[in-house]
Amino acid sequence: MPERGADVVALEPAPLLPDRASVGSGTLSDRLRARLLGLRRGVTVGRNVVVKPHVEVRVTDNGRLVIGDDCTIDSYAYFQLTKPEPVVTLGRHVGIGRHCVIAAKRSIVIGDYTQIGPYCQINDQDHGTRRDDLIMNQRAVIEPVRIGSDCWFGSGVRVVKGVTIGDGAIIGAGSVVTCDVPPYEIWVGVPARRLKVRE
Ligand SMILES: CC(C)(COP(=O)(O)OP(=O)(O)OC[C@H]1O[C@@H](n2cnc3c(N)ncnc32)[C@H](O)[C@@H]1OP(=O)(O)O)[C@@H](O)C(=O)NCCC(=O)NCCS
Repeated sequence: MPERGADVVALEPAPLLPDRASVGSGTLSDRLRARLLGLRRGVTVGRNVVVKPHVEVRVTDNGRLVIGDDCTIDSYAYFQLTKPEPVVTLGRHVGIGRHCVIAAKRSIVIGDYTQIGPYCQINDQDHGTRRDDLIMNQRAVIEPVRIGSDCWFGSGVRVVKGVTIGDGAIIGAGSVVTCDVPPYEIWVGVPARRLKVRE
């Protein structure tokens, strides 16, 4: 599990307002779905996890998906863990928005409390790009992705292979993150650039 940033060590999630439209207010079916998911080979699901309908999880033989306590996975999220040795780790209280795609061949780590908005895509891989062979024939280029604790991604963020995003960072809607983002900074755009530091 990733370390929490020094600035947030004392902070804890506040009790949720009662709101049955919020993904955090999981129904019995959502919690059962999480329990069933946790029975699958290669998948570990913590306590009090909400998995909304139509979430798709594909894990290759030696792959591992670890979902920490109190996570929420909204509808149509898709986890694709393909060879050679994929591991995806969500810390505690991580929120994965509707229609997100998380595709790992080696390692994607998302820290505690991080909230990923809808339609985001996080990949630790690229196709090979040499021109002397078909792209579909080339070995993937794989570099782990690490996203810190207490981050927030707006909707439609893309994170490409090899990126590390520091604790408390915010990525604006529609941004494409192609390089490391320091802790507690707000980055926006394509490619994402620093907008400001959080105060
Ligand atoms: C990144 C964000 C938090 C910044 O909010 P803010 O601090 O209020 O920023 P401002 O609106 O004052 O914008 C500051 C500048 O950044 C630009 N900007 C803001 N968000 C941007 C984005 N996502 N992409 C590109 N540029 C952006 C603005 O155009 C503005 O540029 P200017 O100074 O040249 O006019 C916000 O814009 C955002 O993207 N929120 C995500 C919303 C969302 O997706 N919600 C649903 C999922 S939970």
